Amino acid sequence: MKTILITGGSRGIGLSIAEKYLKTEEYNVVVTGRKEQTLEDLSKEVDNKNFHTIAAKADDEEAADKTCKDVNEKFGSLDILVNNAGTNPAGGALMDVDIGAVQKTWDVNLMGPLLWSRAAYKNELSTAIMNICSVGGIAPSQLMGAYNVSKAALIYLTKQLAYELAPDIRVNGVAPAIVKTKLSQLLWENEEFAKNLHLLKKLGEPEDIANAVYYMCSDDAGWVTGEVLTIDGGFLLSGNSMI
Ligand SMILES: NC(=O)c1ccc[n+]([C@@H]2O[C@H](COP(=O)([O-])OP(=O)(O)OC[C@H]3O[C@@H](n4cnc5c(N)ncnc54)[C@H](OP(=O)(O)O)[C@@H]3O)[C@@H](O)[C@H]2O)c1
Repeated sequence: MKTILITGGSRGIGLSIAEKYLKTEEYNVVVTGRKEQTLEDLSKEVDNKNFHTIAAKADDEEAADKTCKDVNEKFGSLDILVNNAGTNPAGGALMDVDIGAVQKTWDVNLMGPLLWSRAAYKNELSTAIMNICSVGGIAPSQLMGAYNVSKAALIYLTKQLAYELAPDIRVNGVAPAIVKTKLSQLLWENEEFAKNLHLLKKLGEPEDIANAVYYMCSDDAGWVTGEVLTIDGGFLLSGNSMI
């Protein structure tokens, strides 16, 4: 059995990635989230002996170190790290938005992936790091300044870590447009409008992202590193902009 660790896997894209790997029956799947009770309830719901949860904040260095150490010791390896946990509390233009909220966004979305990548690397990470980026890191928009900057930096972090960790560990990312989850609810509340921002006239489902993550971390992508795969239903090509 191999082991995959997914930050922020209690719902949405992270949970879908977890389910994808559970189906293979080849992985111990460990997900993190902030709330012990949510994770306990989720474990009962998923009800799979290969599914495990650990309460740990994405921007907490000590929690990252302890979790990666515990995972490697308990399962005998740590093969894939998915930096998925993300937040967007700072909606608004960067010139106006509360600076504490900007800091929190950058701590969770950028420092988090660095802290967990370092922790995983120190604890014998064997194969791949996957960063969940965003089209917001490629094309700016009016009201998601703090988030977009964090994701642009995450795309660069992906390339920098790919450079540093080659040839042993591949580091890649995916950049989704609007996927129907809690995080992006404001973007798809007007669902017809949101769908029409994408050439394919539909929103992404968490599984669309999980499928791409699976490919990018598999041996089929064994010659791919430092790349961020856009999965956006044609959003960038459409020339439309997010709010
Ligand atoms: N949905 C989209 O349209 C979209 C588009 C592009 C990129 N993304 C990216 O995809 C990733 C997953 O987002 P999602 O849409 O699946 O969001 P989601 O459904 O809101 O899930 C976010 C997950 O992260 C956890 N989380 C949030 N803050 C955390 C923290 N500080 N420490 C640890 N865990 C934390 C949440 O669990 P708890 O609340 O229980 O802690 C939850 O499991 C994010 O990086 C997001 O930026 C999403």
